[in-house]
Amino acid sequence: MNATQNQSLLARREEELTVEVVQSFDGTVSPRVGELLRGLVRHLHAYAREVRLTEPEWRYAIDFLTRAGHITDERRQEFILLSDVLGLSMLTIAINAPTDPDATEPTVFGPFFVGDAPEIGYGGDIAQGAQGEPCWVEGQVTDTRGEPVAGATIEVWEADEDGFYDVQYSDGRTAGRARMTADPEGRYGFWSVKPAPYPIPGDGPVGELLTAAGRSPMRPAHIHFMISAPAHRTLVTHVFLAGGDHLDDDAVFGVKESLIEPFTQQPPGAGPGGRTLTGRWWKLMFNVRLAREEVL
Ligand code: BEZ
Ligand code: FE
Repeated sequence: MNATQNQSLLARREEELTVEVVQSFDGTVSPRVGELLRGLVRHLHAYAREVRLTEPEWRYAIDFLTRAGHITDERRQEFILLSDVLGLSMLTIAINAPTDPDATEPTVFGPFFVGDAPEIGYGGDIAQGAQGEPCWVEGQVTDTRGEPVAGATIEVWEADEDGFYDVQYSDGRTAGRARMTADPEGRYGFWSVKPAPYPIPGDGPVGELLTAAGRSPMRPAHIHFMISAPAHRTLVTHVFLAGGDHLDDDAVFGVKESLIEPFTQQPPGAGPGGRTLTGRWWKLMFNVRLAREEVL
């Protein structure tokens, strides 16, 4: 056999291997799981063939994923972070976004949500020790025709002025997050702190990836919202600070024009909810339109 014949034999073996592995999932009980696994193998193999993956590169990838696993715990989720910086999170969100063009756009969930945030009433303060300039946030939750969604559950979380979420504090306290319920008109209002841009966690393998790529780890200033109500699609989104840094180079590709809102500066004095402010403070209006749950 000459070198050319040998090359074509090797190429055929590569393709036969892919076919064999894809077929090995033909008996998968769930048709959907079978589809997912066959597609995964087809694309993984195509990737390895396209880049001519070397064995040291394969070992590096295994080590990278192993380190991602080791750094992950109940407070740190390196795999979500990896999905985020690869744009997979935003692609999945785009694929599954409501078709209703009037619904508020979703964006990335991120790794810093905590399920048991404290409940607050209208006018409460989510900061609870998170440092930053006071910021009053209010808005209305409606459906896409503008009808109020009474009693919607609103969960909010944000980083402090130094760019840290409470789960990154060393003392385990809860700050910068809360859960509340919209009033009968769908309205909500709470005190928080003006958010600041911050870097996503860079001390793990994902940070290594960004450094290797010469990419910025920064996210623009934002507040996270998750809003749910019966018969409506749960919305996971952010509101971004208009005019802030990094709106054009968000490390996780989460910015959408429709989610950028002005935070207006206010002078010291009386503020909403009976609060008296000794320094400047900020005001933000963020109305949210929920899509109807699609009945399949
Ligand atoms: C966040 O906004 O909390 C976030 C999102 C994706 C990756 C890291 C942080
Ligand atoms: Fe965030």
